[in-house]
Amino acid sequence: MTRVEELLSQIKKLKTEKNAIILGHNYMEYSVQLVSDFTGDSYDLAVKAMKTNAKIILFAGVYFMAEQASALNPDKKVLSPDPSAGCTLSDALDVKTLQEYKERYPNAPVVLYINTSIYAKALADYIVTSSTAVNVVQKLNAQTILFGPDANLANYVQQKVPNKKIIKVPPNGRCIVHANYTKQLVELARKKYPNALLMAHPEAPLEILESADFVGSTNQMIQFSKENKNEEFIVATEIGMINALKIKNPSKKFYPLVTTEACACARCPYMNIITLEKVKRSLEEEVYEVKVPEDIAERAKMAFENTMKLLE
Ligand code: 13P
Ligand code: SF4
Repeated sequence: MTRVEELLSQIKKLKTEKNAIILGHNYMEYSVQLVSDFTGDSYDLAVKAMKTNAKIILFAGVYFMAEQASALNPDKKVLSPDPSAGCTLSDALDVKTLQEYKERYPNAPVVLYINTSIYAKALADYIVTSSTAVNVVQKLNAQTILFGPDANLANYVQQKVPNKKIIKVPPNGRCIVHANYTKQLVELARKKYPNALLMAHPEAPLEILESADFVGSTNQMIQFSKENKNEEFIVATEIGMINALKIKNPSKKFYPLVTTEACACARCPYMNIITLEKVKRSLEEEVYEVKVPEDIAERAKMAFENTMKLLE
């Protein structure tokens, strides 16, 4: 038995013994995706966290995702295999800045991308993901909207909803991975794979989104590539996504826009620190428990539920 096979079987046993489930983000390394009960995008996993009867939820993803799961499920034990798994977007918005913007624009609803700390979420009216942002902003009964922290996603929403004014909070929040994508990289990839369609995540710059054949969240990319007749796809998002696409769609070909050989930035350094070894230790020792203060959790939950109601 290899070390990976050994870990996989130990983790499966621990899950049963402890009545635990593993939620794995689509960017997780291949083996972590294999041992996850559900894989998906940030929205899908947040909803799964609300629906499970399991006693323990292990969130194989970055910290804000585990925090969100904990806020939505205060009576469950939520574990993060490594709480130092941050996110440059989440770090881009602090509570003080958000409060200042709210004071400056008291009538503007606050729409925050799920990649934020739970403390920022507690000050929001709506929590959106890459799959829901455009819809939510379209449906809001307001002309001016405070939107953060991803400037690229804000630009995309602004393009799709031109009749409303999107104010970015802060003006320049970026994902460390998607910020590196350029038009030149797209041209090179298109030359190399002339039959492939380009799928891009809305955290990428607008010039990439404008030249893409499809723009969507990680789950929406899986769906699009399944339903589309084309056999090959260039993928403009974090490189772990290639695993998720291959697992869900083994007969098709997926090429990352940027490979790890070309740039270390192809892999999210935060997603990368969640390993199978850490997942096992986390379940075994029930560490690290993610706890959110009750009042903060309640306010963040309300903002999440506002979004769900708006989209019903
Ligand atoms: P989605 O899971 O919503 O597609 O977002 C990807 C992401 O960057 C998570 O950090
Ligand atoms: Fe954050 Fe970007 Fe990593 Fe997603 S890929 S967790 S947005 S730094």
